[in-house]
Amino acid sequence: MDDRTRILHTGRDRDPHTGASSIPIYQLSTYAQEDPFELGAYEYGRGQNPTREALEHTIAVLEGGEEGFAFASGVAAISSTLLLFQPGDHLVVTRDVYGGTYRLLAGLFRRWGLRITFVDMSDLGAVEAAITTDTRALYVESPSNPTLKVTDLAAVASLAKARGLLALIDNTFMTPYLQRPIALGFDVVVHSATKFLGGHSDLIAGLAVARDGSLGRRLGGIQRAVGAILGPQDSWLVLRGIKTLAARMDAQQQTAEALALWLAGRPEVKTVYYPTLPGHPGRDVHLRQAKGGGAVVSFELADRDSARRFLEAARLPLLAVSLGGVESILSYPATMSHAAMPRQERLARGITDGLVRLSVGLESERDLREDLEQALATAR
Ligand SMILES: Cc1ncc(COP(=O)(O)O)c(C=O)c1O
Repeated sequence: MDDRTRILHTGRDRDPHTGASSIPIYQLSTYAQEDPFELGAYEYGRGQNPTREALEHTIAVLEGGEEGFAFASGVAAISSTLLLFQPGDHLVVTRDVYGGTYRLLAGLFRRWGLRITFVDMSDLGAVEAAITTDTRALYVESPSNPTLKVTDLAAVASLAKARGLLALIDNTFMTPYLQRPIALGFDVVVHSATKFLGGHSDLIAGLAVARDGSLGRRLGGIQRAVGAILGPQDSWLVLRGIKTLAARMDAQQQTAEALALWLAGRPEVKTVYYPTLPGHPGRDVHLRQAKGGGAVVSFELADRDSARRFLEAARLPLLAVSLGGVESILSYPATMSHAAMPRQERLARGITDGLVRLSVGLESERDLREDLEQALATAR
């Protein structure tokens, strides 16, 4: 089945009881039981909710995994996934990981006993060199946030397999419409569904998909025990967002590609980061493993002052934390997505004071270009 069709016909796209064209929002905390000794399949809302289950089924189908799980946020999905490990375990993690994930790993989970080595995952030799006898997993973002570095996913997954490690990936930037890591050998895929999957900047949600049933059972146990579940209303909104995922991604990506090329020719812009831009070092690898460059473009202006003038002058995009909405969103990673990262760590990852990130929405390319052009004029 073609991806565009699969997004709409997942097998849980209508209400099995009434045929209603959308899964109802099951607003409840518990279920009446007929037999006190033999409880039914539905016991308690933290464990089972039909609306959440429809979303979990949908993301599992789209990612090609066996089981899906919906969480209260992207970081809840990531932290619940990290609870697959134990104190003393070691993880090799992509160096320019999302700032909130960095905060979790370098702060909370390090205190808890997880040991982390951050490496540039575009260098497979560096990944291999970082593996120790205590390593249990490789954790990847590709393209990474916000410098859109590309990792060879099939190579990382086969290295993980050869060394008996789990391969984990945050697929937020691509979504399963553009990139399906489980088919490339990954074991767990996580998402901030707040972004492209929800798609409308109107909710916070996270998802995780396990490649096989045994990992799925472990993740399901963690989800029930920790309880950071997604509520039924937000589950419904994510289901609704996913229905237009292909149409939104196609349109937003097309505009992003055109704007990346245009920005690369602007004298005010020092560097443009976009995975399929000619000259991007990961371009060939990215085109092998994904259907396109996505809808996020980062670019570097001269310095902090130019970035400030540009961000204040841009009128159409929201100046905001986040990405993946139908409206374009401009953000300043140094004080927003990567504020949790110490300045030296941030600079070492290329997240300079002149770097801005644009999540391209559904506005017309011409309107966006004209707006960016007048804003760039202030950044000279
Ligand atoms: C790549 C990536 N992963 C995870 C997250 C965290 O998601 P949430 O904000 O839904 O907790 C974000 C949020 O910006 C992100 O960009």
